Amino acid sequence: MKDRLIIFDTTMRDGEQSPGASMTREEKLRIGRHLERMRVDVIEAGFPAASDGDFESVRAVAQAVKDSTVCGLARANELDVRRCGEAVRPARSPRIHTFLATSPIHMEKKLRMEPSQVVEQAVRAVRWAREYTDNVEFSPEDAGRSDIDFLCRILERVIDAGATTINIPDTVGYTLPEHFGQLIRSLRERIPNSDKVVWSVHCHNDLGLAVANSLSAILAGARQVECTVNGLGERAGNASLEEIVMAVRTRQDVFGCDTNIDTTQIVPASRLVSTITGFPVQPNKAVVGANAFAHEAGIHQDGVLKSRDTYEIMRAEDVGWKTNKLVLGKHSGRNAFKARLQDLGIELASEEALNAAFKRFKDLADRKHEIFDEDLQTLVTEEDNDQLESEHYRLVALTAHSETGEQPFAKVVLAEDGKERHSEAHGSGPVDAAFKAVESVVGSGAELLLYSVNNITSGTDSQGEVTVRLTKGGRIVNGQGADTDIVVASAKAYINALNKLHSKLVRINPQI
Ligand code: KIV
Ligand code: ZN
Repeated sequence: MKDRLIIFDTTMRDGEQSPGASMTREEKLRIGRHLERMRVDVIEAGFPAASDGDFESVRAVAQAVKDSTVCGLARANELDVRRCGEAVRPARSPRIHTFLATSPIHMEKKLRMEPSQVVEQAVRAVRWAREYTDNVEFSPEDAGRSDIDFLCRILERVIDAGATTINIPDTVGYTLPEHFGQLIRSLRERIPNSDKVVWSVHCHNDLGLAVANSLSAILAGARQVECTVNGLGERAGNASLEEIVMAVRTRQDVFGCDTNIDTTQIVPASRLVSTITGFPVQPNKAVVGANAFAHEAGIHQDGVLKSRDTYEIMRAEDVGWKTNKLVLGKHSGRNAFKARLQDLGIELASEEALNAAFKRFKDLADRKHEIFDEDLQTLVTEEDNDQLESEHYRLVALTAHSETGEQPFAKVVLAEDGKERHSEAHGSGPVDAAFKAVESVVGSGAELLLYSVNNITSGTDSQGEVTVRLTKGGRIVNGQGADTDIVVASAKAYINALNKLHSKLVRINPQI
């Protein structure tokens, strides 16, 4: 019997800490349900003390998800731990994850605490957490730069206090595979009560080593890996779920463990997270990139045609790649539409939301004859965005004109709190003109950090999916929009980002 490797997904917590990747409650519910379908063992749904919205999102995921453990993050203080305990309480299997920094630099410069105070605070936090659940995880933040003797001292105490999982984070992505594996091995050997807990790792990708470090830790006995879909996360991101799962599955000859993941759900999960966050997946990304299974060189194509294992170590269909499936068209009815959403695990909050999404689908089907799963995912994300109470600006109409030798020009009609406003502008291209026209109404003064366009499916009739990243006053937001007309998609994305800036939602980052 092989050991089980526990997959702990933190897409909705650490992933959400990527600038601009914040998710609404509905989006978290959709991701949570998908992770459950993929048989992720533990879902870290957020940081309940960060904001009321985060608290509600974690609570909603805890209520909805039945087959996975639902976890919340809490700093090691009483308020955070109790807030987290309340948020995960409705879960069938709740977990509290509390953490405190242990590296000299963090203790001295950030916490301004003596090592002995850090030990006592960590022990107290674990005890508060145990009042809510017997499933408690403790992380010594910045363990990768902590002194091993101090780690042994604090971890022995938190295990005695009732922690059931010890997670070793390489918070700043500083460690190297051999050293990180050795760290895990030494901790397991040196801490007298180490056999009472599951050993976990949480690696960041600053040096591009998050997956390599995690795999090295598994070889040293770690039996939980914290990771995110598409490797989303703070700065350069976290270890990517799909790469960890497929490395362990593909190299069963090396790893003495396997996961419970339904790998056919991996590509749909990647697609869903990318659509919701607006973070595109690079084409050459392992496992989930568009080119991950494409063979270009003639010699490779020839080999694959003769026997696919000449150049393929995994099967595309095993990770959920399938040729775009035509699912619905112009004549499909409301029941077929609803059934397909259910197949995709998408539940809309009410009959009105379903009716609104169905109307959007019919409008799209008038312009685009073949509707694929990816179109439906995008359509529902757009519907969710529009349902947000914070929808202050709405695009009513857009005319864009571009002609060789003429300066492009756009006219927009925007509803601001229900009141229509008109404007027009010239620009270096039709998108630039449309943005200038919108900005002349809104006057946000926001700076554009990123503008990107991707086609959702293949073909020139595909919808373009646009991401716009704006910053103002230290906040960064991402807006998304999709349409078969990319100028319209761009204007929608821009307005979506402006609405997010307008909502003034304040969140704190757990590591602050
Ligand atoms: O990177 C980190 O240290 C974290 C902890 C909260 C586990 O995200
Ligand atoms: Zn992290």
